[in-house]
Amino acid sequence: MSSSITSVLQENRVFEPADSIKASAAVSGMDAYNALCQQARDNPDAFWGERARELLSWSKPFTRVLDESNAPFFKWFDDGELNASYNCLDRHIGTANENKAAIIFEADDGAVTRVTYKELLAKVSQFANALKAQGVKKGDCVIIYMPMTIEGVVAMQACARIGATHSVVFGGFSAHALHDRIQDIGAVAVVTSNYQMRGGKELPLKSIVDEALSMGGCEKVQSVIVYQRTQTAVNMVAGRDHFMAEVMAAQSTECAPEMVNAEHPLFVLYTSGSTGKPKGVQHATGGYLLWAAQTMKWTFDLKDSDVFWCTADIGWITGHTYVAYGPLAAGATQIVFEGVPTFPNAGRFWQMIEKHGCTIFYTAPTAIRSLIKAADSDESVHPKNWNLSSLRILGSVGEPINPEAWMWYYRHIGAERCPIVDTFWQTETGGHMITPLPGATPMVPGSCTLPLPGIEAAIVDESGNDVANGAGGILVVKRPWPSMIRTIWGDPDRFVKSYFPEELKGYYLAGDGAVRSEDRGYFRITGRIDDVLNVSGHRMGTMEIESSLVAKTDLVAEAAVVGRPDDVSGEAIVAFVVLKRPVPTGDEANAIAKELRKWVGQDIGPIAKPKEIRFGENLPKTRSGKIMRRLLRAIAKDEEITQDTSTLENPHILSQLSQKH
Ligand code: WTA
Repeated sequence: MSSSITSVLQENRVFEPADSIKASAAVSGMDAYNALCQQARDNPDAFWGERARELLSWSKPFTRVLDESNAPFFKWFDDGELNASYNCLDRHIGTANENKAAIIFEADDGAVTRVTYKELLAKVSQFANALKAQGVKKGDCVIIYMPMTIEGVVAMQACARIGATHSVVFGGFSAHALHDRIQDIGAVAVVTSNYQMRGGKELPLKSIVDEALSMGGCEKVQSVIVYQRTQTAVNMVAGRDHFMAEVMAAQSTECAPEMVNAEHPLFVLYTSGSTGKPKGVQHATGGYLLWAAQTMKWTFDLKDSDVFWCTADIGWITGHTYVAYGPLAAGATQIVFEGVPTFPNAGRFWQMIEKHGCTIFYTAPTAIRSLIKAADSDESVHPKNWNLSSLRILGSVGEPINPEAWMWYYRHIGAERCPIVDTFWQTETGGHMITPLPGATPMVPGSCTLPLPGIEAAIVDESGNDVANGAGGILVVKRPWPSMIRTIWGDPDRFVKSYFPEELKGYYLAGDGAVRSEDRGYFRITGRIDDVLNVSGHRMGTMEIESSLVAKTDLVAEAAVVGRPDDVSGEAIVAFVVLKRPVPTGDEANAIAKELRKWVGQDIGPIAKPKEIRFGENLPKTRSGKIMRRLLRAIAKDEEITQDTSTLENPHILSQLSQKH
């Protein structure tokens, strides 16, 4: 994103938080923020221990806060016991929250269903009992492949209730991707839905589960539980498959929560890395839930009367922390939305904010950019058509927000009244890391500003030495924090190598580049420093897409994938492909590009489809055979090649690869 990075670096507009927010904020003013940071630095154990006692209910109190004896396999609160579902639900019963709406669900077609905390607890308990009746026990793993529905949240909470570790797979992933995850985690059950509704279309889920299970190696799966989202019938395998409503009907609405050790794995969520297959990021119950609850209070300044809406899908980390766990742990009323921002038209988000009186709205820059585009070309979907005065706080997540999009969000959605929290974090960090606090931090468009109290983020060089403000470097976190990744499921060596490389002095390596401003020391994320792309806020490994392309063995000899800046999706996927036949041109090239795109869509999922495919008789390589990715990135951007190409073995293919398909 070179153009927007340049504009971010030159950004000098500053926006102070509104007094109305500051007056009642959990962290009010920079002095309060600095005091919390100081407390955390002076005595981290006291700081974190106090937070954990204040925000969570423990069935067995912990006596130890951080155990660093086996670093980087850190343990938090590890002689304490608790249950995540108890902390999200039971805790509110008998309080003013008992009959408060926990979820306001809006379906794709606009139908609204509300559940109170009491009702949600009953549903979760019933489904937890149903899982137990299916033989799912504490320590087992359950795959959840569900749409955005109340039932999706129920499935996650029910697993937590019985001490089963869940792994949610985004409903847009293919049978192949689902199969790999079922196998890697050794799931004993799969919870799915017959279909999902998105943008007026009925899309299959259950049949994809059937396909995944038929690929072999998933013999541990004893049962498949199917939520009937629509009336359309699906194939049910006798003995293995059961309808959710049927298995729940027979069960009590009470289920004693299974207390677990604070380090018990609450969930594993797969995410893309720079090499090999996706990594199963493992999170622990106590530390994760603590940070989910704490960031609801600090970053979103959550009040009892708020109506919180995070638009992320439960298939991603944002949907875990800020849909399935954080809002419930904090006793919030939240909106859960099944559909897409552009159906029935691109005014859907604004219409829903008005309809439900949303006060805190949290979405991704990609969504904002696509809605700006829509509003620019069609007045009828411009946010000015709706009353957005209920909004207090806006949030952004998942990718850098360019200052232009930030300004539009600030003006047209927040009416220059609502602070924007640009939250930098990752699947591995469990919750927010660097973000403005709405009642404290002066905002600079395009900057995620400062780390949260207790988060020792820094920018270092390749040997782990701090760099000066203004000089870019590698983003690291110097001290452990409670919601950090515990390991990569089944691959502790890869965990250490990926996140705690020796040369970085034991710091956590985020995988992003960053720079701090000279005046305020504000952080700006400049993008991934590895081979991970960020397409519409979704992480994709270039290697995964390359492996998928070369798996099309009848056609493809070699492939290299790079990212190119894109106005809407942030980055777009560009693939360079060498075929096992002469370089195609014209219609033939278009037909093959179409076939390859379709293949990747089927193999990984539609989000991995290359936007552009270019063919050549070879890839640009050095004399030692290394692919020159920097050159490919330049070609993908249609830049003139000014780089030195003297080490290139085969310079003539550069012009060939400049042809788009
Ligand atoms: C990027 C999503 C700039 C970053 C929560 C990170 C961001 C990756 C921001 C993690 C932000 C996330 N500004 N970049 N506010 N938030 N990123 O694991 O590159 O899906 O490493 O977690 O998204 O993506 P993930």
